[in-house]
Amino acid sequence: MGDLPPELQHRSFKRTDGGGGPNLRLLRLHPDLPSNTVTAYVFNKFVHPDEDRFITPREAARLQGFPDDHVFAGPLTATQHQVGNAVPPPLAKALGTSLMEAIGASSNKAVGLFSGAGGLDLGLSRAGFDIGACVEIDPFSCETLRASGSEWHVVERDIQLVPSEELMELTATDEGETALVAGGTPCQPFSNAGKQKGIDDPRGILFQQFVRVVGDLKPRAFLLENVPNIMSVNKGASFRAVLAGLEETGYEISYKILNAEEYGVPQFRRRIFFLGSRDSEELLFPSPTHGVKEEGLRLFDPNGNSRQKAMHTAGEAFENLPPASFTV
Ligand SMILES: C[S@@+](CC[C@H](N)C(=O)[O-])C[C@H]1O[C@@H](n2cnc3c(N)ncnc32)[C@H](O)[C@@H]1O
Repeated sequence: MGDLPPELQHRSFKRTDGGGGPNLRLLRLHPDLPSNTVTAYVFNKFVHPDEDRFITPREAARLQGFPDDHVFAGPLTATQHQVGNAVPPPLAKALGTSLMEAIGASSNKAVGLFSGAGGLDLGLSRAGFDIGACVEIDPFSCETLRASGSEWHVVERDIQLVPSEELMELTATDEGETALVAGGTPCQPFSNAGKQKGIDDPRGILFQQFVRVVGDLKPRAFLLENVPNIMSVNKGASFRAVLAGLEETGYEISYKILNAEEYGVPQFRRRIFFLGSRDSEELLFPSPTHGVKEEGLRLFDPNGNSRQKAMHTAGEAFENLPPASFTV
């Protein structure tokens, strides 16, 4: 990152009095590749492909596949968290479409838990699910959800204080009538599982809340998202505990790590998705739609099906944006 002007170089990049070499944390995005993984913490790390500045929240939102009319509420750090923590809507749409095909359209009512900025919920609603209610504790995220132009009913509260009956009332469903319960529990409980004060269960209390809502609503299917790291932390104990907890629901469980760049998202992003099927229908994960160019001509297709489109790149994602602004 020696090509960056001094004023842009992060403190951690420069040598400090304490000695030690430079921390090469700054990263200029490559215009012809999908971006590196966007998180809540990349905003003083990812540098624009051709301008000497950090990326803006709107640019990060483009890398996540959010439409430009999705307005993120709150101060800069709040918007950065919302954008960085989201499931890319195009990936969520691909998952939602294959779920919809499997369970049919007898009911499309869905409940979103831990909704954040609504990336997962937005993709699922584009796939045809009717998000009757979404639960989120953070007031800024709730403002984002309300401003997103949808008709979702936002329950701004700690999930632990939300009775399942309230969710059924909001979605106008009885037990067994909801099509889908979907959500991504915060990753943090899994990264230091078992070490938090007062939580003996390595799955974390919020994961238990997801299981509670599934157990009460008895939807046709559920979708749980998390970081792939869940498989390795705690020597796999958290992962095994999560699987065991999901199996306690009596649902048939499958899981897979998906790569967002293979679904039209201009970003390398790996996330694990757990699917649960109440009635034992086979819930298939969507086939990749985007691949890398092979020999400059043919497009890579791991399944040997129809040819895929080329992966979207950071350069393409940043096309036609107004001049940089650090509000979004
Ligand atoms: C990983 S983010 C979810 C991102 C979301 N799936 C998306 O695609 O935009 C997890 C969310 O859980 C919320 N959360 C954390 N604790 C919660 C609680 N006790 N009750 C409700 N929501 C909570 C956080 O505020 C955060 O927005």
